[in-house]
Amino acid sequence: MDIKKYECDVLIIGSGGAGCKCGIVASKHDANVIIVSKGLSFRSGCTMLAEGGYNAVFGYVDEEDSLQLHIQDTLKGGAFLNDLLLVHKLVTDSPKRLIELESYGSLFDRQEDGRLNQRPFGGQSYRRTCFKGDQTGHEMMLGLREEVIRENITTHDEIMITKLLFDDDHSKIVGAMGLNLKDSSIVVYNSKTTVIAAGGCGWLYPVTSNASQKTGDGVMIAYNAGADVMDMEMVQFHPTGMLSPKSRRGVLITEAVRGEGGHLINSKGERFMINYDERQELATRDIVARAIYSEIQAGRASPLGGVYLSVEHLPEEQVMTKLHTMVEQFKDVGVDIVNEPMEVAPTAHHFMGGIKITPDCQTNIENLYAAGEVTSGVHGANRLGGNALADTQVFGKAAGLKCSENIKELELTPASQSDIDDEIERIEGIWSDGKYNPDDIKEQIQHVMWKYVAIVRDEEGLLEAQRQLNDLEEKTKDMDVPSFNEYNNKLMLALEVISMIQLAKLIVKSALLRKESRGAHYRSDYPNLNDEEYLKSFVLNKNGEVKTVERGLF
Ligand code: FUM
Repeated sequence: MDIKKYECDVLIIGSGGAGCKCGIVASKHDANVIIVSKGLSFRSGCTMLAEGGYNAVFGYVDEEDSLQLHIQDTLKGGAFLNDLLLVHKLVTDSPKRLIELESYGSLFDRQEDGRLNQRPFGGQSYRRTCFKGDQTGHEMMLGLREEVIRENITTHDEIMITKLLFDDDHSKIVGAMGLNLKDSSIVVYNSKTTVIAAGGCGWLYPVTSNASQKTGDGVMIAYNAGADVMDMEMVQFHPTGMLSPKSRRGVLITEAVRGEGGHLINSKGERFMINYDERQELATRDIVARAIYSEIQAGRASPLGGVYLSVEHLPEEQVMTKLHTMVEQFKDVGVDIVNEPMEVAPTAHHFMGGIKITPDCQTNIENLYAAGEVTSGVHGANRLGGNALADTQVFGKAAGLKCSENIKELELTPASQSDIDDEIERIEGIWSDGKYNPDDIKEQIQHVMWKYVAIVRDEEGLLEAQRQLNDLEEKTKDMDVPSFNEYNNKLMLALEVISMIQLAKLIVKSALLRKESRGAHYRSDYPNLNDEEYLKSFVLNKNGEVKTVERGLF
């Protein structure tokens, strides 16, 4: 295999909101940055797909809002599993980061008096979600992309990073390596600092709102290097994904629909959320997703097996201006949402678990940083809608600042050649005409996760998932991967499924440890919250140790 080598001060894995922000900040502090992306730069992260908004306390619509309340809402929404220091940073820095976005050219909607507009989102005391119609993430990425280009930052597309590299002493991270998907060459990056900003793992499930690259590779390269990962059982299902056509199943229907006043209705025509939470459609996502699940289980599903989401009662102008993307998204498939309801069902959306970080994005491994959805602790057991976009900017900046500060003291150190050789041997070893098709294995992983490790879980199902994932892991040792095909789809897929199974097993392991229901983790065999025993996060590491971090009720 050909090998190409690159050097930089800051290597960033992921070109979504957090990766770009990190790169911009590091570059402005004179760091030489490379951003690598498994897909196409700026397009393949989930930020681009984010619709509804960015939470920041300005008090421009509801003057009573405050940073204190945003912190409280985030902790309550996260069922108090959040890391308080991370939440404090998220909330206090978020408004400043939004203004920076505007300076890059990402313009948010304003009120008639020129001040930013803000809409209500689930689980929030006041209207604090800033937005650009229902394409907020898209608008953010336009500005971030412009700024990355203005900073002249190098971006590498279609590179799948498969391993972080240590120095010879195995004491610190000195870069990363992986596969160039375009020409099957190996790429080796030598960097002073490395930042993982590779997003989540929605594709562990067959129905997801995530971009197609999101198979959790970022978390797993960190875990395999020895990073602590935390809250791995916490997977968020967004209440409203598209149901039809099959090719669009899971595509996001923004929470802004409910923020603008949309109603959830079952097949009997009942607006059912009142039976689950007094905040109705604007309860937190864990509650709304479970309510929809319960309605479906109780036989009150719509013809496609979901429920209805209706904006028919709202003024047409409001729908056309504030929910324009939704109008187009459904017009495309023959539904006129001004006059007809949408059919919706929960979709895997956000991973609250991930790499454990400090407020300046340091991991437990020297010179390794992480930011955005790949991390844990910010959102606890359930993320509030609108907090993810803020997370990308706040922690993207924190990582960029910390790296640019640290590179001043660091020299480029070569990576252990035997580590590089081992990884090349591993990748080459996957090329074989074995028995099992990686596509089928991926589908089976998704089936297991959907059936046993989704919105409702129990001990029996989780143990069954564990058994089936172990079987699938065996199959990955005998995969059918042609020795060369252009755009290395099969090899990439094979590398993905190996890592997806490891990740799925960590999620199951944590889900078995938490014998209670909290946030997005609902156990039908332990349906209650148990603060006495479980007000703590589980931290896993590849050495097999399970540590806990105690949390508090604030
Ligand atoms: O529903 C949405 O627009 C998604 C927002 C989010 O996940 O923060």
